[in-house]
Amino acid sequence: MGKGFFISKAVGIAAIIVGAGALATIIALSVVYSQEKAKNNDNVLPTDGGTTSKPPVTTTAPSNEPWDKYRLPKSLVPDHYNVTLWPRLKQNLTTGLFIFTGQSTVEFVCAEETDLILIHSNKLNYTKRENNHLASLTSLGGVKAPSIKSSWLQQVTQYLVLQLDGKLMKDHRYHLHTDFTGELADDLGGFYRSEYMEDGVKKVVATTQMQPTDARKAFPCFDEPAMKAIFHITLIHDLGTVALSNGEEKESSNVNIEGHDVQKTVFQPTEKMSTYLLAFIVSDFSFINNTIDGVLIRIFARTPAIAAGQGDYALNKTGPILKFFEKYYNSSYPLPKSDQIALPDFNAGAMENWGLITYRETALLYDETFSSNSNKQRIATIIAHELAHMWFGNLVTLRWWNDLWLNEGFASYVEYLGAHEAEPEWNVKDLIVLSDVHRVFAVDALASSHPLSSKEEDIQKPAQISELFDAISYSKGASVLRMLSDFLTEKVFTMGLRTYLAEFAFGNAGYTDLWSHLQMAVDATGTDIPETVSNIMNTWVLQMGFPVVTVNTSTGIISQKHFLLDPDSEVTTPSIYKCVDGLSYFPPLRTINLCILFTIDEMKVSGSDWVLANINVVGYYRVNYDQGNWERLLGVLSTNHVAIPVINRAQLVDDAFNLARAKIISTVLALRTTKYLNKEREYMPWESAVGNLDFFYLMFDRSEVYGPMQDYLRNQVTPLFTHYKSLTDNWKNVPVGHMDQYNQVNAISLACRTGLRECQNLTNQWFNQWMETKLNPIHPNLRSTVYCNAIAAGGAKEWEFAWSQFKNASIAIEADKLRYALACTKQPWLLNRYLEYTLDPNMIRKQDATSTIVYIANNVIGQSLAWDFVRARWSYIFTQYGGGSFSFSNLVNGVTERFSTEYELQQLKQFKEDNAEVGFGSGTLAVDQSIERTIANIKWIAENKQNVLDWFKAEEKP
Ligand code: BES
Ligand code: ZN
Repeated sequence: MGKGFFISKAVGIAAIIVGAGALATIIALSVVYSQEKAKNNDNVLPTDGGTTSKPPVTTTAPSNEPWDKYRLPKSLVPDHYNVTLWPRLKQNLTTGLFIFTGQSTVEFVCAEETDLILIHSNKLNYTKRENNHLASLTSLGGVKAPSIKSSWLQQVTQYLVLQLDGKLMKDHRYHLHTDFTGELADDLGGFYRSEYMEDGVKKVVATTQMQPTDARKAFPCFDEPAMKAIFHITLIHDLGTVALSNGEEKESSNVNIEGHDVQKTVFQPTEKMSTYLLAFIVSDFSFINNTIDGVLIRIFARTPAIAAGQGDYALNKTGPILKFFEKYYNSSYPLPKSDQIALPDFNAGAMENWGLITYRETALLYDETFSSNSNKQRIATIIAHELAHMWFGNLVTLRWWNDLWLNEGFASYVEYLGAHEAEPEWNVKDLIVLSDVHRVFAVDALASSHPLSSKEEDIQKPAQISELFDAISYSKGASVLRMLSDFLTEKVFTMGLRTYLAEFAFGNAGYTDLWSHLQMAVDATGTDIPETVSNIMNTWVLQMGFPVVTVNTSTGIISQKHFLLDPDSEVTTPSIYKCVDGLSYFPPLRTINLCILFTIDEMKVSGSDWVLANINVVGYYRVNYDQGNWERLLGVLSTNHVAIPVINRAQLVDDAFNLARAKIISTVLALRTTKYLNKEREYMPWESAVGNLDFFYLMFDRSEVYGPMQDYLRNQVTPLFTHYKSLTDNWKNVPVGHMDQYNQVNAISLACRTGLRECQNLTNQWFNQWMETKLNPIHPNLRSTVYCNAIAAGGAKEWEFAWSQFKNASIAIEADKLRYALACTKQPWLLNRYLEYTLDPNMIRKQDATSTIVYIANNVIGQSLAWDFVRARWSYIFTQYGGGSFSFSNLVNGVTERFSTEYELQQLKQFKEDNAEVGFGSGTLAVDQSIERTIANIKWIAENKQNVLDWFKAEEKP
């Protein structure tokens, strides 16, 4: 498929006339947007924080002591650690706590003379050593180490602070020894515990999640990504349990410690690596394994899950994906083993610990009788994502968290390449357009968006780091890297990537280092690009937002401007538009005004010819046309939609709806892009339409527009429903294609949602059959939507049945489908009770609390209940569920998504004000985004409601 522009020679015959050049032009000429907003840089005053002695100087003025700064000084550089940890998987009956104990020795080199040691430490209690201090220091090479003068814990900045009575000498090596205890809490961060039931017995797992800043919660360490070191890990654990870490097991022996017969497992030293990639796990899980070219691959999970074969899919796919990345990176897998483990409690989806990747159960375990094709795709892509990090992120690590977008954006791009290798039939690479490009367009079109790149000095506190794990880093990162790879060609892109990895292996780099290597590849291959890689990419990396490119087919003029969902919203720094001219590379350039780009004569079409830009949505921009071209495109959609590539059909719908929201085209024009859907059978355009119509549901499901809208959409979806009914022989078979399977779900969910009787009868009948016979007749692909519809149509009986199925599910993937569907009931009392359950870890696991609240808020009846609940419990939720990185922004955005009235806006502003003290942590940005979205929604409804109502009413009529 070509790229850039697509032009019909005559209706129905499409030809590609402009290749990479046009895309390059658009990349190079894109607008310069506002620079990053000032980040909140509130300085926190020091607290005494110490458990033994207070900081020697206490002043009321803001302190500028090194221990009050969040970043480590550069004076000490770790070389290696010897760490022994002993997690207790049984509760201490006196204290009621689960704990771990540990000893650590870190060898570090003094790079600059200093009499101060700062090492990260959070929530650890130290056993006092010589002279009552929290640590002891020895020196290597004969000279005597200075004595410790005072030692304390600085809680705010999370340091163990040691003041010395003399200087550490440059280039000398020292050992710092500590003995400590920590709580093995159920808080999903650092060294934590996960619990599950097996054969009626409660089991406990000790496991870790270090990224971004919780290694310091497991042992004292220089917890910054550039402080790479070698780790010698030893775990003490109960006899018969399995201990895992990043390295291979070196030796394991039975020992008696403090009167306990235990097992001591020593691991091979790690490669030189960052602390955030460490992992320590003790469990009595089982595993399956194979070996590929000398690399041991193992999948660990609860014993019954392994016995049921739920690890098999992951095991079968890991080898091929690993081999794919070895080829892609031209670098063999750097470790002797690759373990992957499914944990009952896990905050994110998965974590790329080097050699020991941790997952949520739903992201690793597959079972044909329970898992949908979507679950399967998630497993393949998440494995690919984490394996991609083994090189990009782990072997070469970004110097500081401000460049996180490159790490996550890169893995989020190449996960599609890895998954494609595992499942070539799926066409999974196309889906990046829906899951990343369109997803992030929605947030990057807000004035409260932010650039990919942040300044190093703006990212200091753990919450600021956590906030970076957002859709911009992941999905915009993935989108612009895909554009770059496409633009440079995969050959040049991988060439630069390979030399980048080779140069910085076992070290650290910044994103500009990658650009330099890509530039070298461009130069070496003589690739013709209009500007340097760095100049081209700065447009996308240093500025927020993206352009809307307008193609005027009557003049051939192409123009662009910053696309803002709310054109009246204020961008803090005014946009500056940049037009590059005088480059012979470009087609003749007419700088008529600042946002005019250039003219391409071929864009000038007449008669029935049409132009389509941004083929396959490789470019990170939206496209608008003159009215005439829109009309011609609508004409093609209605007469011969297959003349337009399927991804672009999805794009036309998404662009039109969003251009309408931004008041660039009329809402009626956007709605008209859905008229051809009664002939559409492909998943991507339907998914795009459903996603955009969701916005209409959010805005209108409490208003008089709802009825006529339902009638119109029901008419549109009925042919799709009938198509799948016959394709599957009256719902008996499963469609063959992956995308068809997805679209079958769309057909059923939209048909039921719009009240198609036949659909509702079908889902109710399946669910009743399950309740009566206790045998579930519903195909896993359809379960989420069928459960949801049946629970919505039913009452307490259906809900209670689903709840008991949820509690007894033997696989998390089934429990998740039920957890989602339980939020679909229309009974307020059931919803309120369900909300209460979300904060009771015995009912809903902590990892699932916020997503369950968001499910409830998505329900029109649950919306206000969920909002009241979150407002009332904010400080509890914030303190108890604060660790998660994605969850807070999702929670805030989720419970406010439907907001579209002045009253709701006031409530939201009040919420922000009331909780200013408590804070919003990683959800801070989401609060502003929600306010902005609400303001835009209010205006949108005022301006569009009548038109939309009239249009649906008119379309309803046969
Ligand atoms: N490094 C992240 C996991 C993570 C996220 C740790 C946030 C700490 C805070 C991991 O590589 C990741 O991105 N996981 C994704 C999966 C992926 C397929 C997008 C996740 O957990 O959802
Ligand atoms: Zn990642």
